[in-house]
Amino acid sequence: MKVLLIPGSLRKKSFNKSLASHIKSSQSQKAEFEIFEINDIPMFNEDLEDNLPESVSNLIETIKSSDGIIIITPEYNNSLPAPIRNLIHWLSRKYSKPYILNKPLGITGVTDGGFGTVRAQHELLQLAVVVGMKVDANHRLPVSKAYDVFNDEGKIIDDGLKTKVDSFVDNYLEWINN
Ligand SMILES: Cc1cc2nc3c(=O)[nH]c(=O)nc-3n(C[C@H](O)[C@H](O)[C@H](O)COP(=O)(O)O)c2cc1C
Repeated sequence: MKVLLIPGSLRKKSFNKSLASHIKSSQSQKAEFEIFEINDIPMFNEDLEDNLPESVSNLIETIKSSDGIIIITPEYNNSLPAPIRNLIHWLSRKYSKPYILNKPLGITGVTDGGFGTVRAQHELLQLAVVVGMKVDANHRLPVSKAYDVFNDEGKIIDDGLKTKVDSFVDNYLEWINN
């Protein structure tokens, strides 16, 4: 079982990247997790489609070999930030869509605010339905107050959050195994 973890933030010290790293290292006995960072994915542009950018081809190849995807997104201005929207645009095309159709999507996200990126996650859920991914609103995990639950090195220091991540991943893996 291989699960692709896609953080939706581009910054180096991103909490969302840190959560992806935590899942990869703490859950490795349950499944194979691979992190795909989207920093090199260009803005979607139909002019680029005749000769796909290497980063987009790599993304599609990685998705082909994955049984599921977990997107870990921040929230900007009460909404889903551009990098993940852009990613979905690239994945909705004839050369990419066959590989995301019915692909099970887990959704999580970290913010330093109090609402755990729930608005961004809800928008992503709707977008994923439109492009034909397999979604279930139960497979979402909001993470709030990032500065209280991660340390300066990006490690989770809150046992309650570790437990929530464990059960989010367990439930997700059970879902995609059935
Ligand atoms: C332009 C901008 C808008 C933001 N808007 C929201 C928001 O609407 N809701 C929220 O919970 N956090 C918001 N934040 C805070 C981010 O959740 C926070 O910066 C988070 O750490 C970003 O994720 P990252 O650490 O993975 O880069 C915003 C941050 C920025 C830079």
